[in-house]
Amino acid sequence: MKHYGMSGGVLRRHFSQAVKYFSTVSPSCDQKSITPFVTPVSDVDKAAVYVHWPFCQKRCTYCNFNKYICNTVDHERMKRCLIKETQTLVQESCINTITSVFFGGGTPSLAEPKTLESVLDKLASIASMQPETEISMEINPTNLETQKLLEFKHAGINRASIGVQTLNDDALKILGRDHTSSDSLRCLKEAVQIFSGHVSVDMIFGFPGHTLKHWQKELKQMTDLCGCHISLYQLTLERGTQLFKEVTAGQRVLPDSDEVADMYLAAVEILKEKGFEQYEVSNFAKNDNYCLHNIAYWTGQQYLGVGPGSHGRVWCHKATSTKPQREARVQTLEPENWLWEVEQFGHATRRRVVQSTQDIMEELLSVGLRTKWGVTHANWSSLCCGITLAQLCSCPRTLKWISNGTLILVLEV
Ligand SMILES: C[S@@+](CC[C@H](N)C(=O)[O-])C[C@H]1O[C@@H](n2cnc3c(N)ncnc32)[C@H](O)[C@@H]1O
Ligand code: SF4
Repeated sequence: MKHYGMSGGVLRRHFSQAVKYFSTVSPSCDQKSITPFVTPVSDVDKAAVYVHWPFCQKRCTYCNFNKYICNTVDHERMKRCLIKETQTLVQESCINTITSVFFGGGTPSLAEPKTLESVLDKLASIASMQPETEISMEINPTNLETQKLLEFKHAGINRASIGVQTLNDDALKILGRDHTSSDSLRCLKEAVQIFSGHVSVDMIFGFPGHTLKHWQKELKQMTDLCGCHISLYQLTLERGTQLFKEVTAGQRVLPDSDEVADMYLAAVEILKEKGFEQYEVSNFAKNDNYCLHNIAYWTGQQYLGVGPGSHGRVWCHKATSTKPQREARVQTLEPENWLWEVEQFGHATRRRVVQSTQDIMEELLSVGLRTKWGVTHANWSSLCCGITLAQLCSCPRTLKWISNGTLILVLEV
């Protein structure tokens, strides 16, 4: 999911994952379980930070994220520029506390551990970060990257998100992955030890040749190995990818949409049986091991995006207004241009758009209703001034959704 800090692709993925299957707010969620994830606008001094590493070893056949295949990455220059952009973006904001950090990509496990460590050192030198602050990174489970796990931990990473995708070797070939299922199992086993169980696994479903039976088997296997967190990705056939060409040319066939829906429902059931709580449409955690960084996105908290193509949501004070305004920001996409701009200007913010109250409302609803907490009154009123949730729910269209049970309005207590 993923993610703003997120790269364009990650942002899309967070809006598109399997949303059609889970749009009601659970009536069982009580006020107590909601409160930890409310950040009032007055928390303009706190932010999550996403750092995008834009390079990959190989192009997966299905992926259209902002990533580049490059065997001659200038690691020293990337490190200098990631540090510089981090410093500029934090210092020009009112942020003094970092609530979580997420290194995503592309493939951040191809970065040198000292690059990640230097970015974290810079953050800790200009803002407050607690020793227990969640610091996640995405890891591709190749043997090369498995060997670096301990170094990543020493660099400051305390949560690993591993792109296992599938345990079927033929499917890994179709998807263009550069690891086998036994590489993934080795990586997962080591990561669970090194990160004391703080490990998440990405699994993809609905690709050509995938069957319900395969999916059930690999999910059961996965839940035995990873006891903490699982993210599910329904395959999106992206225009311009190798897989898109193969499917449109009739060389590969996707499972039909009913079978894919059954795969999603089976996953919800299996994960529940194995003790995982579904806390978002596509995210499942055991023992409250939620991804706090993603919860920051889903509750409309402030986040900075560092690195090529990353997205951010930042509260800014304008000279003409006493109230802070929320901006949607995007950094320059292409790494060479991003490097040049950071060297020239200290940052490569390509677009800054002030969000209207309606933009903020739509965003909060579209991400918040994906979670088991829904959108809370407190969270709503801290971000969407001028209209209460109760007022919003009294318009004819919303009343219809409430009366047919699609939407549940829990009155403020
Ligand atoms: C962009 S990747 C970055 C992390 C890492 N490089 C990896 O591949 O695991 C993050 C997640 O997005 C998923 N993803 C990328 N393209 C997708 C697509 N077209 N449909 C569904 N999931 C996709 C990947 O499978 C991966 O789990
Ligand atoms: S490794 Fe991850 S980011 Fe890179 S192409 Fe594959 S899915 Fe996309």
